[in-house]
Amino acid sequence: MKVESPNDLFIRLLSEANSGEKQMTRALPKMARAADDEQLVEAFKEHLEETRAQVERIEQIVESDDSIRTKRIKSYGMESLIEEAQELIDGSEKGPVRDAALIGSAQKVEHFEIAAYGTLAALADQLGYKKAKELLAETLKEEKSADEKLTKLAKMDVNRKAG
Ligand SMILES: [Fe+2]
Ligand SMILES: [Fe+2]
Repeated sequence: MKVESPNDLFIRLLSEANSGEKQMTRALPKMARAADDEQLVEAFKEHLEETRAQVERIEQIVESDDSIRTKRIKSYGMESLIEEAQELIDGSEKGPVRDAALIGSAQKVEHFEIAAYGTLAALADQLGYKKAKELLAETLKEEKSADEKLTKLAKMDVNRKAG
């Protein structure tokens, strides 16, 4: 698609985010199954629920204004991050080292999402999409807290066991 205005950019990035979240609803169950540490399994399951709600939130964003829609655009960024995570899963046995790899992979995804939603929220603000801005800020907050939870898990015991 042509990106010639801030609104085009917003639609392009929102469509990418939509693709990324949908990819994560398929990846997170695999990550939960691959993880060994119980708290890490729980963290992935919880974020799966949040991610499903984030997909619905994007639908609400589309419904909030006639000028907003999503297009069928694949997030290659998310696809690559998921592929890397899958390679790490394939190359490791269930246990602390794989758990450390999973935390690292999941944090890359969260940072990627934080960057994407930060830009989207700023664009929504600039374009005067008040409701969209609120919804995007909610998702941004969830991504940040998912990242913080993973940092805590990494510091607590998952990485220690790997050492
Ligand atoms: Fe997300
Ligand atoms: Fe996330």
